[in-house]
Amino acid sequence: MHLLGRPGIQIKWSDSVRLTLIQPDDWHVHLRDGAMLRAVLPDTARRFARAIVMPNLKSPVRTVAEACAYRERILAVLPDGSAFRPLMTLYLTDNTATTEIEDAKASGFIHGVKYYPAGATTHSDLGVTDIERCYDTLAAMEAVGLPLLVHGEITDPSVDIFDREAVFIDRVLARLVARFPRLKIVLEHVTTGEGVAFVKAAPATIAATLTAHHLLLNRNAMFRGGLRPHAYCLPVLKRERHREALVAAAISGSPKFFLGTDSAPHARHTKEAACGCAGLYTAHAGIELYAEAFQEAGAIERLEGFASLHGPAFYGLAPNRKRITLVLEPWVVPAEIDLAPSGIADSLIPFRAGERVGFRIIATGP
Ligand code: NCD
Ligand code: ZN
Repeated sequence: MHLLGRPGIQIKWSDSVRLTLIQPDDWHVHLRDGAMLRAVLPDTARRFARAIVMPNLKSPVRTVAEACAYRERILAVLPDGSAFRPLMTLYLTDNTATTEIEDAKASGFIHGVKYYPAGATTHSDLGVTDIERCYDTLAAMEAVGLPLLVHGEITDPSVDIFDREAVFIDRVLARLVARFPRLKIVLEHVTTGEGVAFVKAAPATIAATLTAHHLLLNRNAMFRGGLRPHAYCLPVLKRERHREALVAAAISGSPKFFLGTDSAPHARHTKEAACGCAGLYTAHAGIELYAEAFQEAGAIERLEGFASLHGPAFYGLAPNRKRITLVLEPWVVPAEIDLAPSGIADSLIPFRAGERVGFRIIATGP
C-alpha cells in the first residue's frame, strides 16, 4: 500500500500502542482570518494548548496594534471552554521600526517576528527585500530577546526550487547567525539534510520546526499518478534522503528540533487551479500525524520531547500542565471539509483526504 505517497510503510496497524504525553503546542500554524479562521481554529485548539500564529494575512500583521486585534479575533471564535492560547507574531518588513520591536516584547503576547523573503510564499509580497535593511531591527530583537522566525528560501528565480533552502542557508542564514550571536532564530519548516546539518552545528540559539507532512512524504507524493495540488506546499517536498534526514532530526532527542505543523488552509478551488496555492491543511490530525511518523521510525517515546517540551524551552515558556492520550487506532479522514457553514462557498481538502491516519486522540485531561 502506498499510503504515505511512497512505498515501505512499516506501521503495523494491528499494533496496540497507547501513549499519554504532556499536551503539545504547535510552533508554526496559519489560522487565517474571518470565515476560514472560524472553520479551522477548532482543529488546532482541540489538540494544541498554544500555537505560534503566522502573521501572513492578506494584509500582514505588521504592528503590535494589528497583532492585538488579530489575537482578539482569534479568541472571539474559540470553541466554548477552550483554553487555547494564540502566541502572536509580527511580519517583518524593510521598515519595521525598532520601537515596534520594543513594544512587541513589552506586549507579552508577541513571541516572535517572521521573516519572509519578499515573494517567497503566500502573502509575502510585503516581506523583506534585503535583510541588511533590517539589521537595526534584528539588533533590537537581539537586545530585547524576541526570536526571528525564518522562511528559509532564497527567492532568486534562477535557483532551482529544490535548492532554495540550501542556498538561503549559505547566502543569508549563515551570515545572520554570525552577525547576531545572541539572536534566537528558528529555521521554520526545515526540509533538507543541509538545513538539519546547519541547525545541528549552529549554536544553541538556532532551532528548527519540522512539519508532519515533510516527515511523512517525499516529493514523489506531488506526482503520484498525476499532478497532486494538495501535496504542494512551500518549501516544496524534497527527495527521500532529505525526508530521512528530517525524521532523524525529529527523533534525535535534540532540543533544537520541535513541532510546527505549518498547517496552511486554502479553499479547494484555489489549489485545484492553473496556478494553485501552496499549503497543506494538516490541523485536523495535527498531533496524530507526528505520532505516526515517530511510530514508523520506531521512536514513539521521543514524541513528547519533540511535541511538548523542546518548543516551550526554546521560547522560554513553561510546558503545558494537561496531558493528551493517543491510541494507534486507524480512522479515515473525510474526503473534504465543507466550508459553507463557515461562510465560504467552497471546501477544504485535508491531508490524507479519504485515507487512513493511524493514531487518534482518546482523551485530553489534567
Ligand atoms: C503557507 C501559507 O499558505 O500561508 N504556505 C505553505 O505552503 N506553507 C506559507 C508558508 O508557510 O510558506
Ligand atoms: Zn507557514
